[in-house]
Amino acid sequence: MPTNSSSLYLPFGENKNAAWYGKDIVSVKQFSREDLEYVFGVAHEMRGMVERVGTLDLLKGKILANLFYEPSTRTSSSFAAAMERLGGSVISINEVKYSSVTKGETLADTVRTLECYTDAIVLRHPETGSAEIAAKAMHKPLINAGDGTGEHPTQALLDMFTIKAELKRFDDLTITMLGDLKYGRTVHSLARLLSLFNVKLNYVSPNILKMPKEVMDEVSEKGISQNEFSSLEDVLPETDVLYVTRVQKERFENADDYKKVKGAYIIDLDIMKTAKQKMIVMHPLPRVTEISMDFDDDPRAAYFRQMEYGLYVRMALLAMVLGKA
Ligand code: NCD
Repeated sequence: MPTNSSSLYLPFGENKNAAWYGKDIVSVKQFSREDLEYVFGVAHEMRGMVERVGTLDLLKGKILANLFYEPSTRTSSSFAAAMERLGGSVISINEVKYSSVTKGETLADTVRTLECYTDAIVLRHPETGSAEIAAKAMHKPLINAGDGTGEHPTQALLDMFTIKAELKRFDDLTITMLGDLKYGRTVHSLARLLSLFNVKLNYVSPNILKMPKEVMDEVSEKGISQNEFSSLEDVLPETDVLYVTRVQKERFENADDYKKVKGAYIIDLDIMKTAKQKMIVMHPLPRVTEISMDFDDDPRAAYFRQMEYGLYVRMALLAMVLGKA
């Protein structure tokens, strides 16, 4: 968490890493437009290096703890792969029922324990605000891999990298977020990051799953136009990025409410006939029924490419906070 004056040498670009060395990544609110450009630049270099040589030794000897209190496939494995491709190693704790958490240990004590053995912790936890609590308890970097319905900053950074890689710009794009905008932490982080650019945001959701007012207020303070809809048909033709989300079953208090909205929107080849030819469909994944598999081979389906970009962005973030002094 706190900084250390040693600056990092990275074999690419300007030495801006000094600003991120030893820092936590808790919220997208920490990132300016300039920071994004820097992350994208490093991620781009990482991609080239993975393609050329596969594995580097930038973080040789460093150890990352992957502490997951909620299920994960992509986030945990891409952080592990990112760390190993940078030459470091990983301790994974994803069965917290086998850890001292079951004995009643607090999150603060658990992270203080793990930081004795490692150089940084990636944390996923069901409670909003948990990442901040953990970061305050620790002395080493904490990376938020999803805190309840709060934020998922590294996902939003990889989502931004995907948009940049696929459409080459942010300004003047119309981005439509679809599905569970209330409980989906990825869209909370992504809307905030997009508000750094001149975009138009559409939110399409069932009435009970609307984008939280707190996020909308922050975005509107940046002067960004936001409009809410219940039907996708109204906005699909103008959309450049359709960001589809899963209805977050695990966050519902009432199972009947979940049943009412679970199949609210389905993206398939038929509905996509009304969309532009040059646009992309994204999804943080996992998907349940919201994108039909028959759409997967369409060139606009960017969600598998998005996963791969995630590796390069997470390599960039680890290099920034942990890189060799
Ligand atoms: C997302 C998450 O955990 O918030 N998944 C991910 O990290 N790729 C989205 C989801 O679970 O629906």
